[in-house]
Amino acid sequence: MSEIKTIGIAGCGTMGAGIAIVAARAGFRTVVYDTRQDALDRALKQTKDFLAKSVQRGKLTEEQAAASVNNFVLTTSLSDMGSCDLVIDAVFEDLRVKHDLFGKLNEVCPPHTIFASNTSTLSITEIAAGSGRDDRFVGMHFCLPAQLMKLVEMSPGLNTSEETLAKAWTACEALGQKPVKTKDNPGFILNYFLVPFNNDAIRMVEAGVAEPADIDRAIKEGLGYPMGPLELLDLVGLDTQLLLCEAMYGITNEPRTACPPLVKRMIAAGHLGRKSGRGFYTYQGNAMFGS
Ligand SMILES: NC(=O)c1ccc[n+]([C@@H]2O[C@H](COP(=O)([O-])OP(=O)(O)OC[C@H]3O[C@@H](n4cnc5c(N)ncnc54)[C@H](O)[C@@H]3O)[C@@H](O)[C@H]2O)c1
Repeated sequence: MSEIKTIGIAGCGTMGAGIAIVAARAGFRTVVYDTRQDALDRALKQTKDFLAKSVQRGKLTEEQAAASVNNFVLTTSLSDMGSCDLVIDAVFEDLRVKHDLFGKLNEVCPPHTIFASNTSTLSITEIAAGSGRDDRFVGMHFCLPAQLMKLVEMSPGLNTSEETLAKAWTACEALGQKPVKTKDNPGFILNYFLVPFNNDAIRMVEAGVAEPADIDRAIKEGLGYPMGPLELLDLVGLDTQLLLCEAMYGITNEPRTACPPLVKRMIAAGHLGRKSGRGFYTYQGNAMFGS
């Protein structure tokens, strides 16, 4: 176990809930903070459901699942983050929201606490600049769904100390994850490929080149990917894809990262993907009905 004993997760939506499962399952005391009680309630239910399935599949014992749940502290009070050795931000992809969060965390957390951001596209150096401790700040980008995917892109900002990166790296391995080092670069490694690639798939749907299910099938059968780009977009959320595109296009001006108009129309219609029951596909429970 690393010298980090308590991990805080700020924001428990799509990503934060998964990262919290990873931390609690690995034996860390896990403080999960969100401004919304309903988000905490949903995360706890998702956690229990996920752990119950892990027991059914023989991945965990009943005792390990119960111990994981016991590691959770769920809170709407920011001051509870003061007991954390590492805080991972998974709040909205908005620089002002993240600056506001880290400015407040800097007041309640002791000096040794390392701050990390799970941002997909914002600059680690820019987020760190509003944290009051940019030497103890690092990018830790988990992949969706975090409780299943092992990759974490570790990105030092310009002022991140080597000691901070080393401690966060050790904690990442103690979480059972596989860290990979990247520069503080828009999209790091994964989204540098994925954002334009997924946009190309959306533009194919817009242009009527093929149906979503046929595009996904072609990519899965032709490239051996476990998921097609439109299935993945439904999992990520179309609203999140818009934010990713806006952030990446704003920094790079790369045309393939600009958000296709169809995304905004789908968001306006409430077709956000799995979370709203309809995106490129429709969903009932966990089942997908292809078009
Ligand atoms: N969705 C993805 O596929 C994905 C993948 C990797 C990384 N990320 C990154 O993870 C972060 C979160 O994305 P998400 O998709 O989980 O978002 P989300 O909208 O699903 O969840 C965000 C959560 O943060 C909470 N929140 C917002 N402001 C807060 C604050 N000031 N304090 C505490 N809680 C607050 C919200 O109530 C919500 O529960 C973003 O930085 C995003 O770029 C997302």
